[in-house]
Amino acid sequence: MPGKVTINDVGPRDGLQNQAVRLSVEQRVALIKALLKAGLRHIEAGSFVSPKAVPAMVGTDRVLDGLQDEQGNFSVLVPNMKGYELARAAGAECVAMVLYGSDGMARANVNMARVEVEQVMEQILQRAASNGIRVLATIAVAWECPFDGPVAADTVAGIARRFVQLGVDQVVLADTIGAANPQQVRNLTTMLVSEHGAERLACHFHDTRAMGLANVFAALESGIRSFDASISGLGGCPFAPGASGNVATEDVVMMLEQMGYDTGIDLRELMNASQLAANLTNNVPGGRARAWLERHLDKKEKLA
Ligand code: COA
Ligand code: ZN
Repeated sequence: MPGKVTINDVGPRDGLQNQAVRLSVEQRVALIKALLKAGLRHIEAGSFVSPKAVPAMVGTDRVLDGLQDEQGNFSVLVPNMKGYELARAAGAECVAMVLYGSDGMARANVNMARVEVEQVMEQILQRAASNGIRVLATIAVAWECPFDGPVAADTVAGIARRFVQLGVDQVVLADTIGAANPQQVRNLTTMLVSEHGAERLACHFHDTRAMGLANVFAALESGIRSFDASISGLGGCPFAPGASGNVATEDVVMMLEQMGYDTGIDLRELMNASQLAANLTNNVPGGRARAWLERHLDKKEKLA
């Protein structure tokens, strides 16, 4: 039995932060509700970052308000202590902190050195523990940085080790610019799974070089059962040149379900959410398998 895989949809944050169209709070809540309707139970709902740096995420407190009656695990990204305090005040139950595999990316994203970020995040972790807030730690540019080039696996392993010891719920290995190949993914994930166990780890892939799904498969083979993905393949980091969209949730779910994994997600409803994401952002709907999925959904045939 292949078992269960958890998908965390980061579209409402990673996807929307980079769009030409800025969504209202109501539209952001509607998109998240469409994802919930499709069966997603883990969603990155927004971020508490500088409104100057990322105007699209203004109002994340009101997005959380709009989700109060919904069942789901909503996380919010925080880049510094101010973001953490705003998230806590808004009632966030889970924060996603970002660590960096390189100095170049840390500078471009949050104007700090990599080790400075780690010090700040350590303080946030201590505060979160006393506030009863769960913490996910994403390691951005875990394979390659657009400024500093390849990132050594030992560097990433060292960051992961430190933050697992400090008590984060999960370490998310992020290929922020979609530069890793499946062999590199297998190497790093195998190494970290043997050190920490797969339950502590997740992966976050971008599809920039069309290796997103192959990378999901490589991590799956290492035992990882938790993945970020973005509805309709929306996404890209505004501070990382060349970063394109995340691997599309519908592609990942289709692949996993066809392999016999249980994601708990209804692909028909997921395609509705994908269409909504595209309509709201004025994009052509994404996802590489879209044409095939639509044909099969129209025929109401079993998808797998
Ligand atoms: N939320 C809201 N406002 C914030 C904030 C936060 N988390 N952190 C800082 N600010 C405000 C400060 O109060 C200050 O406001 P003012 O100009 O009105 O006085 C302003 O932002 C600048 O603060 P400063 O501490 O000097 O930060 P900075 O200009 O060096 O920017 C970050 C650092 C971290 C705030 C900014 O780069 C950022 O928000 N980055 C997030 C990037 C991101 O979301 N990346 C997505 C991951 S791919
Ligand atoms: Zn990303």
